[in-house]
Amino acid sequence: MTTPRYVMAIDQGTTSTRAILFDHSGAIVSTGQREHEQIFPRAGWVEHDPVEIWTNTREVIGEALARAEVTRHDVAAVGITNQRETTVVWDRNTGKPVYNAIVWQDTRTDHLCERLAGDDGADRYKERVGLPLATYFSGPKVAWILENVDGAREAAENGDLIFGTTDSWLVWNLTGGGEGGRHVTDVTNASRTMLMNLDTLDWNEEICADMGIPMSMLPEIVSSSAEVGTVSGQQLLRETPITGILGDQHAATFGQACFEVGQAKNTYGTGNFMLINTGEEPVHSDNGLLTTVAYRIGDQKPVYALEGSIAVTGSLIQWLRDNLGMIGSAPEVETLAAGVEDNGGVYFVPAFSGLFAPHWDAAARGAMVGMTRYVNKGHIARAALEATAFQSREVLDAMNADSGVDLTELKVDGGMVANELLMQFQADLLRVPVVRPKVIETTALGAAYAAGLAVGFWASQDELVANWEEDKRWEPTMDEEEAERALRLWKKAVERSRDWVD
Ligand code: G3P
Repeated sequence: MTTPRYVMAIDQGTTSTRAILFDHSGAIVSTGQREHEQIFPRAGWVEHDPVEIWTNTREVIGEALARAEVTRHDVAAVGITNQRETTVVWDRNTGKPVYNAIVWQDTRTDHLCERLAGDDGADRYKERVGLPLATYFSGPKVAWILENVDGAREAAENGDLIFGTTDSWLVWNLTGGGEGGRHVTDVTNASRTMLMNLDTLDWNEEICADMGIPMSMLPEIVSSSAEVGTVSGQQLLRETPITGILGDQHAATFGQACFEVGQAKNTYGTGNFMLINTGEEPVHSDNGLLTTVAYRIGDQKPVYALEGSIAVTGSLIQWLRDNLGMIGSAPEVETLAAGVEDNGGVYFVPAFSGLFAPHWDAAARGAMVGMTRYVNKGHIARAALEATAFQSREVLDAMNADSGVDLTELKVDGGMVANELLMQFQADLLRVPVVRPKVIETTALGAAYAAGLAVGFWASQDELVANWEEDKRWEPTMDEEEAERALRLWKKAVERSRDWVD
């Protein structure tokens, strides 16, 4: 038998599922990718079909293997990373979901969250779980399914229904489903449900009872880098160990090798997510950030992070493409934006899912302000790009305030960091250098690293640090006063978008 040369990461994201093979240097060898349907049954509702996601997963695994012209024998281990919070409830006997996956962006649980907050307010559980009550998280989504899907409550109480984020769904299926299927999630994904105690890393029975969620529905919580199961005999990757699971933002933090306290990364995906490593103790935020588990390796102590989550950044560009037809492909936004000198006075607050960090306002809705007859498509494209940078600046300010130390540079990754105009504006606004690594697929890389560490494919985290290489850095060049003026106007625009829904 040959020694396997690769580790496979499966990245189950909001818009697509990918399988990527990485070699020992952390370089990409091959990729398979499939988009899945975004289902919008009503304003504010966003769903995915879990069966489509599972089918796509099998296909992309085959694609990645075929493109590299290798078989399962060349794959040392599989790591899974996933869109977080998105909630699947399925029947453990038939393997069928009882409802579509309710996506993290979905706001249908706003009244449910208000009801749970009661007189205690949205921070009722924050001390225990690190999160405010918000439509973003999984627990209220499970509660919604149990309250609204015919027969679901009874089946759940009989022990027939189980819940998981998409990592759980894929692991359960990859390991054969049914009685043999492993029903697990890792600490990072569990930390986004609102149901896990941050300090003990166990499910919180009281919160589950408040939400009416039977404990029998919940997956076993495992470490992010540890053996959790083996791919079943029915699948292409049969007998390959699954040894890594991380929510995608935690995986990106891992892939960026942010292993030291104070190191931070910002990922530019459908939304933006900035995480800063805060070490072995959870740090609570006074400025609208979330406390979350960054990762846990084997039996070691968990490492925590503070996170600033922004719901809409890259998906605003998709919206310009799909809903307005303003561009033919996402990269065209840069060309359009580069055709004008500035935003022409337009500020675009994309509060499509309300506003997440640092505002947490479920009642906010999108607003475009500052319009005059002068404004053209280029200005709107520019305002859409700038929205990403402004929102990231707000989150960075919250991070500096919470940690008491100012960040000196920011590592970035994700699809939008290919956009030079955005990266320069980001550095101008943040007033610190923005640094892009050679591998910008750090989410998948982080999942591969976690899986590979557990099987000795990589010997230590030091090897991962050594693999990290800088590609490009942007220094702030804009006059500071100009940047501050733009930020002032942005904040005024944010005020206009808030508290919109009756
Ligand atoms: O919390 C949601 C986040 O995990 C989604 O990430 O990259 O799929 O948009 P992404």
